[in-house]
Amino acid sequence: MTDKLLLRALNGETLPIPPVWLMRQAGRYLPEYQQIREKAGSFLNLCYNPELAAEVTLQPIRRFGFDAAILFADILLIPQALGVEVSFTTGEGPILSKISNAADLAALRPANYIHQTLAPIYDTIRILNEALPSETTLIGFAGAPWTVASYMIAGRGTPDQAPAHAMLRRDPDTFFRLLDILSDATANYLCAQIDAGAEVVKLFDSWAGSVADADFEKVCIRPTQQIVTKIREKYPNVPIIGFPRGCGENYLRYAKATAVQGLALDTNVDQHWAVHSLRPLACLQGNLDPCLLETGGAQLFDKTQEICEAFSGGPHIFNLGHGITPMASPANVDLLLKAVRG
Ligand code: CP3
Repeated sequence: MTDKLLLRALNGETLPIPPVWLMRQAGRYLPEYQQIREKAGSFLNLCYNPELAAEVTLQPIRRFGFDAAILFADILLIPQALGVEVSFTTGEGPILSKISNAADLAALRPANYIHQTLAPIYDTIRILNEALPSETTLIGFAGAPWTVASYMIAGRGTPDQAPAHAMLRRDPDTFFRLLDILSDATANYLCAQIDAGAEVVKLFDSWAGSVADADFEKVCIRPTQQIVTKIREKYPNVPIIGFPRGCGENYLRYAKATAVQGLALDTNVDQHWAVHSLRPLACLQGNLDPCLLETGGAQLFDKTQEICEAFSGGPHIFNLGHGITPMASPANVDLLLKAVRG
């Protein structure tokens, strides 16, 4: 038995008040984040500085008392650790050196070399183990292979992941070898996060929604299964949360095939469908529209309570359907917490 509400929910317990945390809870909407971000100089410097990364992870815990802290890092650290050039330009998002063909793949470092680059991330986790309140669960994370590959192939974020879809058609061998490399590296990375003290791990497949039904098995499900299998071999008791954002009814196939303990639901998932179809398979997490943290008021309060009500009667973790936006107001997060916790 544990006192940590998030772990209890993920282990299948129905709680009177759901544990709550928010995707991207550390970030630009917090003035104290902006201050540390400026001190670090760049986003990547912040990710690789264990003291500062731990500090920004703790900021939303101190301010709001969330039930979970999520490690401060990024899904694009894996490509960087594999030898891809990655930079973040304010206003432009991430820019990466592109993977276009088999020769680019051959130039990547092997998946077991990633720890040289990622060692500071494990140090951040060790600092957090000491610093977090005893009731707060520490979540580690990584991007799922499809989502990370979509940035590596395009060299940037894209609205429709068209360059990655084009490679899947033009050169499926290279495409699936890239997914395999990412599956290996990601499993190694998440195991090392757990070794360092992460108590739950989450896989962000933020672009799962653009994958056709016919490709979903090979592109989203199989790489996730490979990662889940490797983690379970070593750490059978560490819960895994999957977030195949935007995949609609494919959530059901994903839940059955991967057997993740937690399913993070995006904003478009119908709560009643989820309770009926997905809840027998996993603890449900979600799914408030993050825009409501910009607008606030009765809409935010009522919608938050409606979600708690819809998911009551089974294991539930309150969260957003996607990340907090920089325009969100911290006062609205207080209001959200009042609506969840009373
Ligand atoms: O609080 C947390 O959630 C922890 C840290 C975290 C970040 N990124 C920090 C971050 C997590 C879990 C992520 C995940 C992530 N990163 C995803 C998956 C989740 C999602 O939103 O779909 C994706 C697709 C990325 C890639 C990424 N990182 C992009 C596209 C961008 C630029 C867009 C943006 O929001 O600025 C980032 C940058 C980033 N990652 C910031 C933060 C706090 C902002 C950078 C800054 O402060 O300068």
